Amino acid sequence: MLERELAETLLARARAAAERAYAPYSNFPVGAAILTEDGTIFEGANIENASYPVTMCAERTAAGAAVFAGKREFRAVAVSAPRAPGATPCGACRQLLNEFKPARGELIVILDGPAGPEQMPFSALLPHAFGPRDLE
Ligand code: THU
Repeated sequence: MLERELAETLLARARAAAERAYAPYSNFPVGAAILTEDGTIFEGANIENASYPVTMCAERTAAGAAVFAGKREFRAVAVSAPRAPGATPCGACRQLLNEFKPARGELIVILDGPAGPEQMPFSALLPHAFGPRDLE
């Protein structure tokens, strides 16, 4: 798990990111902050669309920013949905995040719980995942 201070920092970034969501249809803003292996933080928020399924989740916009910047290993991801304390990443986002688990150690997920950051290993959210190795 991450030191409490780092977890708090990531969660604060996710909360701030949620304020930049474009969520006029659900009125359910979500923010995400991803810490990559080299210590960089990338943020994202949900971006909805009049064609509802085109919506992009916060975790995926953050991951897109990280991957586009050349990052391939995520150490931690913090997620904040102010209207739903403790909300976890959706199934599709779990699958996306699985792709960028670090080579060593666990990817840590930080939820915005009622009592602050709640840390858990990614494998608790998506056990027996299908991933890059299955294609080898
Ligand atoms: N949403 C996310 O951004 N991340 C999740 O993990 C769950 C759902 C967004 C999608 C949509 O804009 C809104 O929350 C309601 O589903």
